[in-house]
Amino acid sequence: MDIYSLIDYTLERYTTREVAMALGVDARTIRRWHARECEPPPYVDDAIRQRLLPLRSDTDAPSAAFSFIDLFAGIGGMRLAFEGQGGRCVFTSEWDSYARKTYAANFHDGPEHVFAGDITQVHEKDVPDHDVLLAGFPCQPFSIAGVSKKNALGRPHGFADKTQGTLFFDVARIIAEKRPKAFLLENVKNLMSHDKGRTLSTILDVLRNELGYTVTTKVINGKHFVPQHRERIIIVGFREDVGFSWDKLALPDIADGPKLASILHPQDGSEPETWSFLEGKKRKVSAAYTLSDKLWAYLQNYAAKHREKGNGFGFGLVTGKDTARTLSARYYKDGSEILVSQGSSKNPRRLTPRECARLMGFSDTFRIPVSDTRAYKQFGNSVVVPVIAAVAELMAPHLEANQTAPARRPRKAA
Ligand SMILES: C[S@@+](CC[C@H](N)C(=O)[O-])C[C@H]1O[C@@H](n2cnc3c(N)ncnc32)[C@H](O)[C@@H]1O
Repeated sequence: MDIYSLIDYTLERYTTREVAMALGVDARTIRRWHARECEPPPYVDDAIRQRLLPLRSDTDAPSAAFSFIDLFAGIGGMRLAFEGQGGRCVFTSEWDSYARKTYAANFHDGPEHVFAGDITQVHEKDVPDHDVLLAGFPCQPFSIAGVSKKNALGRPHGFADKTQGTLFFDVARIIAEKRPKAFLLENVKNLMSHDKGRTLSTILDVLRNELGYTVTTKVINGKHFVPQHRERIIIVGFREDVGFSWDKLALPDIADGPKLASILHPQDGSEPETWSFLEGKKRKVSAAYTLSDKLWAYLQNYAAKHREKGNGFGFGLVTGKDTARTLSARYYKDGSEILVSQGSSKNPRRLTPRECARLMGFSDTFRIPVSDTRAYKQFGNSVVVPVIAAVAELMAPHLEANQTAPARRPRKAA
């Protein structure tokens, strides 16, 4: 890619101001380079690649062990885990423009990769062939009320009838068309009790009986890997019965799990000067993250009221020795579920976006190109990367390339 194309490419992902700041020049200079009015100095190519673009690109990768697609991709937590096993992402779907921005800042895809928006608008035949389908689909209410009536009338009912209008339907129609070797679906643990268990049984029924996959589920707590209680259900399916089992899942002992000190900023001057949420020589967490007197008083009063009613605490005050509650997508609002104690003479503070990234198992090289509010939402919605990595490691040996695609399985008759 020549320098001008590189600048065009970068400006599709970052604003002129962001590029100017990263390169230490003014925005006018960037605009002139972009307009080809003058030639950028030689260091610019390297500086863009080092500071703004992911260091590794699809096209640099040796031949992939398997291919996968990343649905409801968020910021790509699942992708990181499957790339770690040698997989190559060939298709991504995510409709939120801010999540797309974070994703694009961290994954550098070539023209052979498709980045789609709303999955409900993508025809299943337009999804490229792939070995593994990944989807952390949002859980929506399912109504299966119509099914028994249709049964009674002797009419066939397929997954289309059962799940039409839900995002699981979009996952099912892509599996039905593309018949990947395997899939991994992820959701909140509550999916198990949703609608008295009927939602999960509809999903499993479709996957097993209509799509013909061998399917198993497991609830895994992120606490094995990160200092956060975060339980998620993982649904793994294989097109053939390849003997996949959870028995060998490598989970570190939860009792020895890491504590919050491992993800909090050390505030000793060792962290980068470029991180805007830190300040001063010691790189202390910026005062902006400390709760205002008003918000802290409100949270304490709210908690006291609920304690009186026997409802437990309204906020989670933690130190480096603790494990955090589940980080939610609403953390940006008041941060109440995880407040870091700063001693009795100071109000507690929120986690910084970098600390949230670490709490979800992202490495410090992961770029956060969005505002704090967006970043909190994105990490709150994300998977715990090492949890998915452990599952990916377990699945990888069963994805050997020599399995042949079987003829499409007929749908079960009603
Ligand atoms: C629970 S998050 C998944 C996060 C992801 N697994 C990760 O690790 O970052 C669900 C994502 O689905 C996206 N989404 C919801 N409806 C969508 C649709 N119709 N098409 C594409 N993306 C959608 C949301 O914007 C959100 O980022």
